[in-house]
Amino acid sequence: MKVSRKTVVTSLTVLLVATLLFLTYQRVHSRIIFGIRDDFSRAISYDTPVPGIPGIRADQCGNCHVEIYEEWKTSMHSKAYVDPFFQAYWRKDRHIWICLNCHSPMEPQQPWLIKGLEGGKVYKPIKSDNPHYNADFQLEGITCASCHVRDGVIEGPFEDARAPHPTRYSPRFRSTDICFTCHQVPSGPFQFYNGGPCSTFPEFEAGPYSKRGMICQDCHMPSINRAVAVGGPIRQGRQHLWRGGHFPEMIKHAVTVNLIEEEPRSRQPGAVVHFTLQLTNSGAGHKIPTGDPDRYFTISFEVTDSAGRVLKSQENTMRRWILWWPVIVELYENRLKPLDSRDYPFQYRLPGDLKGLKLRASVKYHIMTEAQYNRLRTKYGLSTEVEHVFTIFEQEDPLDTSFPVVEVERERGASSCKGGRG
Ligand code: HEC
Ligand code: HEC
Ligand code: HEC
Ligand code: HEC
Ligand code: HEC
Repeated sequence: MKVSRKTVVTSLTVLLVATLLFLTYQRVHSRIIFGIRDDFSRAISYDTPVPGIPGIRADQCGNCHVEIYEEWKTSMHSKAYVDPFFQAYWRKDRHIWICLNCHSPMEPQQPWLIKGLEGGKVYKPIKSDNPHYNADFQLEGITCASCHVRDGVIEGPFEDARAPHPTRYSPRFRSTDICFTCHQVPSGPFQFYNGGPCSTFPEFEAGPYSKRGMICQDCHMPSINRAVAVGGPIRQGRQHLWRGGHFPEMIKHAVTVNLIEEEPRSRQPGAVVHFTLQLTNSGAGHKIPTGDPDRYFTISFEVTDSAGRVLKSQENTMRRWILWWPVIVELYENRLKPLDSRDYPFQYRLPGDLKGLKLRASVKYHIMTEAQYNRLRTKYGLSTEVEHVFTIFEQEDPLDTSFPVVEVERERGASSCKGGRG
């Protein structure tokens, strides 16, 4: 068989272009979905022990700061390393070192010391064993010392503390700076997000709460008057709760839902009924959902008959849509900004037989999709069942009565952030 010159030239050109694309791709494609910034590129060092106390484990701080310790234990910060979702994703990312700088950030919590990066590549660290590694300490995730211990001194919000350990006032405790390091992750090269992979800060800064001078702590660490250490004076401090997406009460606190039936409210067979579900971001200082790009809300309507058969259903999603491969591009998003509302209309033509007919409207919060969840279970060793869908609002209305018809309002307080407690 004779191969034409044209075919050879074409094949060689295709091969050359493919090789070039591959090499370029190798250079631009990052192993992680974010970029690295100076402030979290290194573990938090602990070279100088804190004098006056036996050690810096959370339970050791908890001997004197009893309530704060109990609160922290219930928070996701204390679980940031043991969190099964973190563990599964970390396995997927081949236990790359950088994750620990936010999920268990103290140097003694990490099995290695990172001396540098070969060719500046995040996945080519120059590692050595960490002689001060403490595996139990690692399990504490974002422990007290991650925020409070620097250079052998305990930093905090007060200027007049009288403690058995050295203390130092630092303004970062009463500003958003202390949250920024971990909660605003930058984009890497050739990653085109709108606001970064976790865009909580730009969402907050563009919104009404920062303009009013509020900070993250106002909602995520409710203010309280109490002794901050056993036997100490009563002071105004803050509960160490950091409630967020893993706590349905906190998510309920972010939204106000109104379900309204529009006029005319007929219940004649063949008539069309119109409902509107109005969702307002009345309680979050940033968009909902925020942070982790996996998070999303669904808004659903479902009509069922007396046998429970679904006659009509409708589902809308509120989230970011991101193309993850071959390069990361955020394509679209429809999340709700602080204080914004959105209407979700639903209509349905009533059938001949109205007996047992019901409409159910619901709003759910999803930590991740079922497909992702199943992938973590089948491919990445997620071995325990973890709750990952929370029903935030649910309302069932019979469609078989001629009257009366619902008009329901569910109010959520916006300003007091009480949903964050307990
Ligand atoms: C033996 C008891 C004890 C232990 C252990 C202890 N503290 Fe304290 N701490 C105190 C007392 C007492 C105060 C002062 C309380 C006051 O003035 O109201 C204090 C004050 C503080 C403050 C406020 C400092 C400021 O200037 O704003 C912080 C923050 C703090 N401790 C964190 C920690 C952390 C973190 C640990 C563990 C690494 C720890 N403490 C261990 C007793 C203790
Ligand atoms: C994610 C960072 C972070 C972690 C982790 C953390 N704290 Fe705090 N802590 C803060 C902030 C912010 C404040 C300032 C609260 C305020 O404005 O009063 C604070 C304040 C304090 C105070 C002063 C009292 C008060 O309420 O202001 C003490 C004592 C304290 N923390 C102890 C602890 C202990 C003990 C742990 C671990 C069980 C811990 N902290 C974990 C951020 C943190
Ligand atoms: C050392 C890094 C670090 C710092 C500092 C930090 N966070 Fe976090 N935070 C995390 C990580 C990591 C998680 C996710 C833990 C998980 O779900 O496994 C998290 C989770 C949260 C959540 C979500 C909890 C949930 O239920 O899903 C809230 C809310 C939060 N942090 C608020 C704050 C606030 C407010 C500050 C500042 C006072 C702060 N964080 C400081 C790393 C940090
Ligand atoms: C006006 C109150 C308010 C302020 C201010 C606020 N938040 Fe929130 N935040 C909420 C509420 C309510 C939720 C629960 C809704 C949700 O999870 O989407 C939440 C959720 C979160 C979550 C959980 C996201 C997830 O994974 O589900 C994180 C992380 C978070 N906030 C971080 C911050 C940070 C960082 C700041 C400051 C820059 C901040 N928040 C300011 C009210 C607030
Ligand atoms: C710059 C700090 C930072 C780094 C680095 C980081 N994370 Fe996180 N991670 C966070 C914060 C903050 C949250 C909480 C965001 C939220 O709740 O919306 C989080 C949340 C998560 C969650 C969601 C946990 C849950 O319960 O749903 C997973 C999974 C996760 N991170 C995995 C990783 C992995 C794997 C890496 C390394 C490839 C990594 N993270 C690196 C800060 C970081």
